[in-house]
Amino acid sequence: MATTTAPTFPPAAGMDILFTKAQIADRVHALGQQISADYAGKDIVLIGVLKGAAIFLSDLARAITVDATFDFVAVSSYGRARVSSGAVKLIKDIDNPIENKNVILVEDILDTGLTLSYLRGLMLQHKPASLKIATCLDKPSRRLVPIEADYVGFSIPNQFVIGYGMDFAERYRNVDDIRLFPEDTPGH
Ligand code: IMP
Ligand code: MG
Repeated sequence: MATTTAPTFPPAAGMDILFTKAQIADRVHALGQQISADYAGKDIVLIGVLKGAAIFLSDLARAITVDATFDFVAVSSYGRARVSSGAVKLIKDIDNPIENKNVILVEDILDTGLTLSYLRGLMLQHKPASLKIATCLDKPSRRLVPIEADYVGFSIPNQFVIGYGMDFAERYRNVDDIRLFPEDTPGH
């Protein structure tokens, strides 16, 4: 049986930066412009996946110039482990109907794809006019189910990251750049 180790939380300041605040801002601005062009003359509904996508959504929404409303969903998380049980459970559903709306699901990281393929299936049952996916980060090498995002901030290798909404055991979400979480941290 695997031994369990209490997680430790090294300071973010000591972790290597993968993307700076400025690089993130530039990329999110470009995504906002792309989305605004793609949806010119239309309204959109941005559905953020709590909690990780909250910060990306708040920046992306302000980089979008077409009319946009927000909603949020929450799903069961991995906890502090990066292993996926494969089971995704809805904890919070959307508040407002999305039938005939142009919906963009907004996520922090597209990893195995289990979360977003589950959510996509769920949202499609509501018969939106269109459904696209925006993710801040994409780890294509980790995919267990076939799913791609329509809007990707950055594609990254199989490395665990924190900051800009992304956590390790709920910590580091408020770190304003994206950093590499040290692999040798106990509890990781
Ligand atoms: P998946 O695509 O279903 O595997 O789930 C993606 C979710 O796993 C993301 O929304 C994150 O919450 C979490 N996740 C995956 N990789 C990382 C990482 O490197 N740092 C923090 N959270 C991660
Ligand atoms: Mg998440």
